[in-house]
Amino acid sequence: MNLNGYRVLKPEDLVAAHGLRAFALDVLNGLSETPKRLPSRWIYDEEGSRLFSQICELDEYYPTRTEAEILRSHTSEILERAGKRELDIVDLGAGDGRKTNIVLEAASKQVEDIHYVPIDISEASMASLVMNTRARFSDLQVAGIVAEYFDGLHWLSNSNDRRKLVLFLGSNLGNFNRVQARVFLRQLWEALNDGDQVLIGFDMKKNIELLLAAYNDKQGVTAAFNKNLLKRINRELGGDFDLAAYRHFATYDVFSGAMESYIVSLEQQTVVIRELQSTFEFDEWEPIHTEYSYKYRPSDIDALARDTGFGIVDQYCDAKSWFTNSLWQVEKPTV
Ligand code: TRP
Repeated sequence: MNLNGYRVLKPEDLVAAHGLRAFALDVLNGLSETPKRLPSRWIYDEEGSRLFSQICELDEYYPTRTEAEILRSHTSEILERAGKRELDIVDLGAGDGRKTNIVLEAASKQVEDIHYVPIDISEASMASLVMNTRARFSDLQVAGIVAEYFDGLHWLSNSNDRRKLVLFLGSNLGNFNRVQARVFLRQLWEALNDGDQVLIGFDMKKNIELLLAAYNDKQGVTAAFNKNLLKRINRELGGDFDLAAYRHFATYDVFSGAMESYIVSLEQQTVVIRELQSTFEFDEWEPIHTEYSYKYRPSDIDALARDTGFGIVDQYCDAKSWFTNSLWQVEKPTV
């Protein structure tokens, strides 16, 4: 409180208050809706991130391996387009950093002056990412930003004139629906300058059996990963979900072109979540939706770029056309 009798909350006060509440609010809202839903981003606590790394190693889960293969074959060509002198490589959603390392490996040989700029909302993830990247690339300038993506990008664009290459890899974009993806890409366009480039991962439409297997592996790692949401609610919010009374279910919607993941209640049951001071009723076979993962056709990618102000510079895909990394350039008319 100041002498005038009021207090101005600083960003750091708000972050502390908000960080604790955001998960609780999403759970309260999501489980109160019909159909029930829980956003998949909350799966990724320490255990969830470890399980996801395990998914990436599975035979059935082709996206990570396929994209890594594309990056290994084409990164130097991609960097060639970005120019040899100076480049900010901006990373949105580095995860465990393995794919980023492929890009940085090539860049450190090829580009004279690179800054690696990961942006992530979690300070804990940032700390370990920066430490690991520095250990691996001792000469690289690493300058991470802990912020929401677009706050970080706007700040970065205002703070220097260096050319930018933004990485948005994996099936990150695919977790947005078609409208959300356009909003996201347009915000990206706004936060960048004319001529900056973005490299985006697209998981392509393919044989449905391959899709179903990738999201429902035999060993049950994906099931454990998806159900980690319930475990996390138990752990952090004092929930009493009985994990054995739910199953993971994944299906493909041919109309929307999305893999859909659910957690399904196997019986009628009531769940108490202490921190929310609430109980939630489940019917037998009632689902909780957790994630969409949209799959693309080449023409979908063209339309997305065109609608959001980007020009397609080039596209890179694997021999089976299962995955595409599309390189776009920001086109801003001079008005
Ligand atoms: N978002 C990733 C994807 O679309 C991760 C993922 C794989 C996932 N399997 C899942 C998320 C099951 C939720 C449920 O590939």
